[in-house]
Amino acid sequence: MKKSFLFLFFIALFSNVMASPKIIRIGTKNIDLVLQVAESGRVYQTYLGSKFKNESDLELLPWYVHAATDGSAVRRGWEVYSTSGNEDFFEPALSIHHNDGNASTYLYYISSESHSIPGGTETTLVLRDNKYPVEVTMHYQAYENENVIKAWTEIKHQEKKPIVMDTYASSMIYFERSSYFLNEFNGDWATEMSMSSQQLQRGKKVIDTKLGSRAAMHTQPFFQIGLDQPVQENQGEVVLGTIGWTGNFRFTFEVDNVDNLRVISGINPYASAYELNPNEVFQTPEFIFTLSQNGTGEASRNLQAWARKYQLKDGMGTRMTLLNNWENTGFNFNEEILSKLMKETKQLGADMFLLDDGWFANKYPRKNDHAGLGDWEVTHDKLPGGIPALVRYAKEAGVKFGIWIEPEMENPKSELYEKHPDWVIENPSRETYYYRNQLVLDLSNPKVQDYVFGVVDKIMTENPDIAYFKWDCNSPITNIYSPYLKEKQSQLYVNHVRGVYNVFKRVKEKYPNLPMMMCSGGGGRCDYEALKYFTEFWCSDDTNPIERCYIQWGFSQFMPAKAMCAHVTSWNKATSVKFRTDVASMCKLGFDIGLKELSADELSYCQSAISNWNRLKPAILEGEQYRLVSPYETNHMAVNYVDAQKQKAVLFAYDIHPRYGEKIMKVKLQGLDPDKRYKVEEINLMPNRRSTLAENGKTFSGDYLMRIGLSALTTGQAQSKVIELTAE
Ligand code: DGJ
Repeated sequence: MKKSFLFLFFIALFSNVMASPKIIRIGTKNIDLVLQVAESGRVYQTYLGSKFKNESDLELLPWYVHAATDGSAVRRGWEVYSTSGNEDFFEPALSIHHNDGNASTYLYYISSESHSIPGGTETTLVLRDNKYPVEVTMHYQAYENENVIKAWTEIKHQEKKPIVMDTYASSMIYFERSSYFLNEFNGDWATEMSMSSQQLQRGKKVIDTKLGSRAAMHTQPFFQIGLDQPVQENQGEVVLGTIGWTGNFRFTFEVDNVDNLRVISGINPYASAYELNPNEVFQTPEFIFTLSQNGTGEASRNLQAWARKYQLKDGMGTRMTLLNNWENTGFNFNEEILSKLMKETKQLGADMFLLDDGWFANKYPRKNDHAGLGDWEVTHDKLPGGIPALVRYAKEAGVKFGIWIEPEMENPKSELYEKHPDWVIENPSRETYYYRNQLVLDLSNPKVQDYVFGVVDKIMTENPDIAYFKWDCNSPITNIYSPYLKEKQSQLYVNHVRGVYNVFKRVKEKYPNLPMMMCSGGGGRCDYEALKYFTEFWCSDDTNPIERCYIQWGFSQFMPAKAMCAHVTSWNKATSVKFRTDVASMCKLGFDIGLKELSADELSYCQSAISNWNRLKPAILEGEQYRLVSPYETNHMAVNYVDAQKQKAVLFAYDIHPRYGEKIMKVKLQGLDPDKRYKVEEINLMPNRRSTLAENGKTFSGDYLMRIGLSALTTGQAQSKVIELTAE
């Protein structure tokens, strides 16, 4: 009985390899990613693009492409996870030194299976080297309605000693098109997500970072590719990709000798050759991508809907408006000032007061960014009643209370550093370089993970009414050395990020309903792995509304509005409070401004803007977003949102810097029901101001509004209109 079972098992395994061609279809409503097992048993991508109508057509796809331009019969496959040391002469996904020093790996099909997951199907594909006991399992989760595919890989082996992995990508995808146009998202502190385009030429283009503690600063972990033509908003085939890794990442775009493109995404292997022990499973981060035949507008809506449903912490939940004190008081506050600000929060109509940096440390009080970070005890002189008193003031004012922390970091001028000098990433044999006067704690060390988790846990245990955390992370890793990892220093970049996730996981497990903002010296942390643990992220410290138009346009390419925190501040006082608020209102609205700075009219305007925003949450936070007028292509910007029933829509229209005599076009809406009739009302008006919108108060069909549009833009500098549309 046992014998015959084994016999059948081997027959099944053998016939799996031999039955050729075996086709693995990873599909969503509109996309097909097709893999094929060749006669040799190696697995190739045969297709990635719009969905096939007939399953039988997949068999016609050749597993190889011609690999020579002179017409000779050289054939090369697009190996699904290409490896080092074989006949593929381009960048591999996996590069291993086996423990006998051999640098080649060949992977062969072992098995594959598919099963349902919420919202789609997961396919796993097991591959194994035929000479070395190395096994690779590729995972693909395909989300049917959102047309998003998430791919990651697990690597393990049973060699006698550890193997060294020099490259270990999450996944790779290929395209055979006439041309490829890449959009990337560069920047710096206060200039996040600045979009630029280029045509990819033969050779490699790499987008990567080496910041250690966050994914982004000089470039963000996102890309768009226009296939056959430059990326456009409403037409053309585009791919949008991102990686869920809160550390060094790398995208490699390589156009080969016959003008095919391969895209390899993963952890940046820079200074990170990874020694993998026998039987240890190395799991790569998730590479997340979508493909659309109708431009980036549809592709972004795919990602936004997917993120809300499946990735973001409390993605389907609501979000709170808040008043933050960072831009208003900086480090200069006391109990009296804070209690006043909580009353102002209530007066404004916001849900929560958020206390920022500067509330902690006693031996080295946190008066500025030079000291105190790491000592998470309230500064007694400054706040004698401690957090409990602050929570009480908030309660008395009738608002919620949230608090800022930066628990992964410390100033060397802190009691923590004095007690545990070996908990920090710092190179003992070199001069220390301080970024914002601080150092990064060594999260590869489980004791340090306990400590960081303990920071949140202690605050929450002592003050269970705290309603929100803003979790900051201001410094990249600057002095790469872990006292904990000793001779395994090349694991530090990877294990540090894993340690960060261990902490995030524990916090989420214990406090599943606690909303949290992820922040990293502005918008340096905004990746989809960390967002499993955070309800939202801070897009940028740059709250100048003009700059914010570009930053928010950039992040909206990949992120839903409910995850993007936008605050009204005093940056660029040359613009009106209305303009600043209208710009912030297209995202998750908050304020960070003293009410004394506002005139009575401005205050009353802000109050009504918050109440309008609350009413429009179903459209702005849960609805579909349509980017209508690009600040990159015009001197304006316009975006509209439509709720799920197409009953309510809201149009945000901004005049950024129109030119004299410029022809002003009407804004054509998108996503409405053409057969419904919508009443058009301009909202967010300053007190005693009448709407100047020609169509205000009138009713139009959705068809008219999408075909002809509204006169929402003007020649005014830094002007805005918010227009509510209600179906009758
Ligand atoms: C950087 C953040 O981006 C700011 O919003 C603020 O929280 C400061 N850190 C506080 O130090």
